[in-house]
Amino acid sequence: MGLTVAVTGPTGEIGMAAVRALENDERVERILGMARSPFDPSSRGWKKTEYRQGDILDRGAVDDLVAGADVVVHLAFIILGSRKESERVNLAGSRNVFEATAGAERPGRLVYTSSVAAYGYHGDNPVPLTEDVPPRGSKQHYYSAQKAACEALLAETAGDLDTYVLRPCIVGGPEATVLLRNLPWEQAASYVPEQVRRLLGAVPGLKPVLPDPGVRFQLVHHDDVASATAACVAGDGPAGAYNLAGDGEITISDLAHAIGAYAVPVPSELVDLTAEFVDLVPLLPTQAEWIHAARHPMLMDTAKARRDLGWTPQYTTKQTLEAMAAA
Ligand SMILES: NC(=O)c1ccc[n+]([C@@H]2O[C@H](COP(=O)([O-])OP(=O)(O)OC[C@H]3O[C@@H](n4cnc5c(N)ncnc54)[C@H](OP(=O)(O)O)[C@@H]3O)[C@@H](O)[C@H]2O)c1
Repeated sequence: MGLTVAVTGPTGEIGMAAVRALENDERVERILGMARSPFDPSSRGWKKTEYRQGDILDRGAVDDLVAGADVVVHLAFIILGSRKESERVNLAGSRNVFEATAGAERPGRLVYTSSVAAYGYHGDNPVPLTEDVPPRGSKQHYYSAQKAACEALLAETAGDLDTYVLRPCIVGGPEATVLLRNLPWEQAASYVPEQVRRLLGAVPGLKPVLPDPGVRFQLVHHDDVASATAACVAGDGPAGAYNLAGDGEITISDLAHAIGAYAVPVPSELVDLTAEFVDLVPLLPTQAEWIHAARHPMLMDTAKARRDLGWTPQYTTKQTLEAMAAA
């Protein structure tokens, strides 16, 4: 008998790739997916997947989902939302998933997709970050704070479960463009001096202008996150936390080049100043808090996933960017 795997958030950018990987994994026999919107697994050609509509805020729905599973993969999360809504789903909803899984008889393993953001955007972070660095989160950035809080919650509630915590950097690829499109480039665009904008604006066929403070970052392809998820589902390595990133690094100039935009260098002090402004001004949209993600290099060492899970990413950071840009 193969594994039965319950997946929250199977219709998201990572969820689609993860379920595809599980569909193709012969160790997995059955997949039970749950998210709020209607979805038909046969539209994707999926054969092992049964889908139900349900909300992770509904403890009964979560209990039903996990009861028949050997492994639970928790992906449902609000990434780009208001602080209040995201807090409700991400903290109360994740608590439901963690407690229901720990309390159910059958599941022995839980795979939770955290993020590089769990480490927090701190000036004293080592470069690169290894899994030995405690996930402190950044209280000024709702997503980072909630990712760190969720990891703490999982540690507190897991009981005897084997827990796998994946920490991907920004995920890209043809089916994952949302985060890259919504990161703080647009807010940061306000740093570009007006004269430069006007100058560029005078050029026919104007391209967007992205300011580049020179901070390097990594990308990971959704299919590589999916293969790491499948490895954890099968228990290919010991339980624990695993950083996930493609080889190599890029800057906003590389991003601009790939998407046909202009890049204009700006001093990193301007990013710091804007981030401080965002912290001080009440009633700014929550999205503005993403500016913190551009303050410091958040580069991760992925040796542990390669060594312990046997994870071999198929795409570098640059290839992931190209695949995303082409999409
Ligand atoms: N994308 C990235 O760059 C990235 C990077 C690092 C880590 N991660 C983490 O990876 C995980 C998956 O991310 P993703 O990019 O796949 O997210 P996504 O594209 O936003 O998808 C979120 C999924 O969760 C479901 N969902 C949201 N709220 C729910 C609720 N209350 N109850 C049930 N289902 C709910 C959504 O479907 P409905 O809306 O229909 O419910 C969807 O299936 C998240 O924990 C995210 O923080 C993502």
